[in-house]
Amino acid sequence: MADESDRDPAFAIEHLTKRYATVTAVADLCLEVPRNRLVAFLGPNGAGKSTTIGCLSGLIEPTTGTIRLLGEQFTGDSVELKRRIGVMPERLALFDHLTAGEFLTFNARMYGLDRATIRRRVDELIEVLDLSSALRRPLAEYSSGMRRKVAFAAAIIHRPDLLLLDEPFADLDPASAAMLKTWLRQFAATARTVFLTSHALETVERLCDEVAIIKAGRLVWHGSLSHLAAGIELASHGQRFHSLEALYLALVGEHGTRLEWL
Ligand SMILES: Nc1ncnc2c1ncn2[C@@H]1O[C@H](COP(=O)(O)OP(=O)(O)OP(=O)(O)O)[C@@H](O)[C@H]1O
Ligand SMILES: [Mg+2]
Repeated sequence: MADESDRDPAFAIEHLTKRYATVTAVADLCLEVPRNRLVAFLGPNGAGKSTTIGCLSGLIEPTTGTIRLLGEQFTGDSVELKRRIGVMPERLALFDHLTAGEFLTFNARMYGLDRATIRRRVDELIEVLDLSSALRRPLAEYSSGMRRKVAFAAAIIHRPDLLLLDEPFADLDPASAAMLKTWLRQFAATARTVFLTSHALETVERLCDEVAIIKAGRLVWHGSLSHLAAGIELASHGQRFHSLEALYLALVGEHGTRLEWL
């Protein structure tokens, strides 16, 4: 990469706060993610994960705080920097009247890929994602899993340096999810970074190198999963944890489990 140091993190979020009218979705979040890693961003519903991903991708404007991305300061106007990111947002803004081929071609053109490359990648993605039978149908008619596959394809088509995926495994059938995991490993193995949200802790435990956990907009833990086999020690709990689920529940807290009337 030109003149940037590989030691620069993939991104560094510094004191990020996002307030909506009555809600503080992200509260003074600091998080640094190194390159060449698969990192999961976990937390309860409403914890602020999608809001953070929105800020990292330039779709949401932070209230305060800064983001350094791939060695540069990131703002909503960072056009060149945005070309180096691939985003799969939580709510898919697909153009419903387009077919998958048209939508992917449109995205690839925006990223400035040449015609031959666009053609090749679009055809290949449609084929491997098993969308060929839907090729002539508009996205409005796609199932939710099919829509998510198209959104994933749109996020990777320009071979970005940083991939931001908001719940990439939601709605995917097991074979598609397995394929996605293989691709994500391949992606991170070539010096690029994947930052994904998920509620599937077993998948995250098998797939990811690191985990960051937030609760109510605040970071509660960030660390490597490589120590999980030996047990991850939480000083605050005076205990070792041997599974991501046990660690997560200790940090985030279990909900009450009984409904007396049920
Ligand atoms: N556009 C918005 N306007 C007002 N409040 C919002 C908006 N978007 C998110 N919020 C609030 O911000 C908080 C964080 O939401 P966010 O979508 O970031 O959570 P999340 O961690 O992605 O949750 P989930 O796991 O359910 O996807 C929630 O309280 C949510 O209601
Ligand atoms: Mg979300």
